[in-house]
Amino acid sequence: MTDWDDKFDYLQLTRSLYLNIDYLQFLVEKVWKITKKVDVVDFGCGYGYLGLVLMPLLPEGSTYTGVDISEELINKGREIFKSVSFNHKFIVSSANGVPEKADTFDIAICNSVLMHIPEPDSVLTEMKRITKNNGMIISCESNWNAVNALMYIDGIKKSKITDLGFLQILFERVHEKTKTDGNIGMKMPVIMARNNIKNIQARISDAVRIILADEKNEEQDSIYTSLQSDGFGTELNDEQKARKINWFMELGFSREEATEYLEKEIKLNEIFRNRSDLNMVYAAAMTFCFGYVIK
Ligand SMILES: C[S@@+](CC[C@H](N)C(=O)[O-])C[C@H]1O[C@@H](n2cnc3c(N)ncnc32)[C@H](O)[C@@H]1O
Repeated sequence: MTDWDDKFDYLQLTRSLYLNIDYLQFLVEKVWKITKKVDVVDFGCGYGYLGLVLMPLLPEGSTYTGVDISEELINKGREIFKSVSFNHKFIVSSANGVPEKADTFDIAICNSVLMHIPEPDSVLTEMKRITKNNGMIISCESNWNAVNALMYIDGIKKSKITDLGFLQILFERVHEKTKTDGNIGMKMPVIMARNNIKNIQARISDAVRIILADEKNEEQDSIYTSLQSDGFGTELNDEQKARKINWFMELGFSREEATEYLEKEIKLNEIFRNRSDLNMVYAAAMTFCFGYVIK
């Protein structure tokens, strides 16, 4: 049993917020310049989202191997992938020790995974081990500070609904406590460099999602539902509010700081729930960082 076993619906609803497929195509063709078939391994693949969007963009004959610690998500992936035409397999395994031989893959990739793992360096070591000489390591990881800074909601001063300073300190303290890091995206070039990955470059996902009060259509409904799944609009009862304040205090904030921040979060969620008046712009600002394995 892992924390991710019951997260299929969440994953399925939220992935579309983060990447544009045409941008992924741009990376494949113009940046990564992948012209020959490749064997790809996806670390922390979940149900295989990345395989579904990336593989159709790769040369014919390319193969996909998805690795994840959650057997539930892998089983979902196996079911969904019954209809795909490319060769694929799924492995239930920790990303720290994948049962594959050294020098097997052309590309080791991960999407929103290193941010959740307390030891990203040991995952990179494993990615490198099973990647061939001159193969690529690609990570696509989050930057929560940027997401909060970029988010725009019309009709209210941003400082009334987002406390960037509080959030910055909160994320730092969560990182200190758990070693996981929602802001790992922009750190990845340095993390890759210290893991001896060469010719490192980085890009930022160009996906921007827009909700407009006067525009109601299927695409808007889908973005709204995805943002809801990502936590926007959540209503807290008194017990949940108290628990949140206690958690902030455990992380070193005073009761006043915690209460003041929570009031802003509650206001933001209230505004989000009032969809008929909501004009909102959201960017996930995921960092694609990539480099080469030289053995
Ligand atoms: C946010 S999800 C991303 C899933 C997938 N990459 C996607 O974009 O849909 C994080 C994934 O990492 C997996 N994971 C977390 N820790 C792991 C570990 N130590 N080894 C392998 N997978 C892990 C989880 O099971 C989950 O599927």
